Amino acid sequence: MLFEDDRVAFVGDTLFAMGCGRLFEGTPQQMHRSLQRLMDLALDTALYCGHEYTLANARFAAHAEPGNSAIADRLERTAAMRERGEITLPTSVAEERATNPFVRASDWQEFARLRAEKDSFRS
Ligand SMILES: [Fe+2]
Repeated sequence: MLFEDDRVAFVGDTLFAMGCGRLFEGTPQQMHRSLQRLMDLALDTALYCGHEYTLANARFAAHAEPGNSAIADRLERTAAMRERGEITLPTSVAEERATNPFVRASDWQEFARLRAEKDSFRS
């Protein structure tokens, strides 16, 4: 659900901070397209995700993109926030574009490969 004038979107279980939902009924192509549509929103749009999965997602993101310093920084910040019992949401389009490997995937095939890898990833 999108409130475009207010720059707010409730994204349910499609996108999580630094991650995305599992594929149950849809195809990787559909999920990739849904994520790309969200990333076309204004950069300062606040994204409210359905679950607080940021820390586990950050660990996978650091594994998927070891050279990405924005991911390394966010992993560190997220770990500190969770240590203090703080909520890491909402996120934003700008933050996800910089640190979410699933939206940064160049095409749906790369997205599908990441999604499959994440399904069996133990941090
Ligand atoms: Fe859920």
